[in-house]
Amino acid sequence: MPTNSSVYIRGLGVYTPEKRLSNDDLSKIVDTSDEWIRTRTGIVSRCIAADGEAASDLGLKAAERAIADAGISKDEIDMVIVSTVTPDYIFPSTACVLQNKLGISGCPAFDILTACSGFIYLLELGSRFLRGNAYRNILLVSTEKLSSVVNWKDRNTCVLFGDAAGAVVLSKTDEADVGVLGTVLGADGAYGDLLKQPAGGSALPASYETVANGQHFIQMQGSSVFKHAVRTMSECSLELLKKCNLTAEDIRWVIPHQANMRIVDAVARQLEIPMEKFCVNLQNYGNTSSASIPNCMAEMREQGRFKPGDLLLLTAFGGGFTWGASLIRWK
Ligand SMILES: CC(C)(COP(=O)(O)OP(=O)(O)OC[C@H]1O[C@@H](n2cnc3c(N)ncnc32)[C@H](O)[C@@H]1OP(=O)(O)O)[C@@H](O)C(=O)NCCC(=O)NCCS
Repeated sequence: MPTNSSVYIRGLGVYTPEKRLSNDDLSKIVDTSDEWIRTRTGIVSRCIAADGEAASDLGLKAAERAIADAGISKDEIDMVIVSTVTPDYIFPSTACVLQNKLGISGCPAFDILTACSGFIYLLELGSRFLRGNAYRNILLVSTEKLSSVVNWKDRNTCVLFGDAAGAVVLSKTDEADVGVLGTVLGADGAYGDLLKQPAGGSALPASYETVANGQHFIQMQGSSVFKHAVRTMSECSLELLKKCNLTAEDIRWVIPHQANMRIVDAVARQLEIPMEKFCVNLQNYGNTSSASIPNCMAEMREQGRFKPGDLLLLTAFGGGFTWGASLIRWK
């Protein structure tokens, strides 16, 4: 795997809806408590999109901020790729909807669906397209309105998730050894049933029965998901470090998928990287699926944590199952 890279994050933007839902608010809806949610997950509150605010609307605001941050015009975007499990529609793609709302046209636009690992998959896709030399600036958007697929009567799942969008402009640079140094991706479809939204696709089209049975909501076997998340995020991170001839000691910051504080703790132990190096903001947002890593990155950058030359390890796990890790030398 090459260590000299010419693909970097030129602009970063995030959008989180204004409305907040606290653990105490949730305890009025389902049989739960602030104490249970905090101790089992680390989550304190989450953002909930407004009625009528779709994934493309969240993504648009994040995208506009990323483009402004990159210091380019929207007309310089050569491709739009969106990661989401809550698309505006099955089709057209949310990327096409977002492209139109952004006021650009002509460039390729498409969605990917790799659940919570979406941002890592986007980074790899964007890097590959840029290295092929046909594109200069690629807009990657992770946008999730999980409140639209959460069963607000199921305490096992509704306390975990929130809404957010994060976007980056990925661009080329002549500088060597900066930006995305390498990425590892993986998937195992044998575990698809452990975390899924069963109905609404061609396998189980929407019907009165599917709605009555709550099959359009997220269903999850929490403890199995927990174990696989810890194992795969740790293993793919170590695999990536090895491929890039780096060690855990070279890492300045880890930005893990923000699912659950106990998962983050367990990954830190597996990687033997101290918790002080882990960036965490899940307490304020819950699990926002593929938006969680760019959302956390944006917040940490805002706090001035990242210095040029810092080595960042990003790692995620999601439904599918899918997983991945990326190494970024901050520019
Ligand atoms: C969901 C999760 C927090 C549950 O934590 P846990 O320690 O495994 O808890 P358990 O599943 O053993 O549940 C313990 C009890 O709490 C109950 N419980 C579940 N949710 C609850 C809630 N919100 N409030 C109160 N009690 C709750 C369960 O019903 C169970 O009760 P029982 O023993 O009477 O059956 C944990 O499994 C997890 O984080 N899994 C990964 C989820 C995830 O990150 N998914 C997305 C990955 S991308």
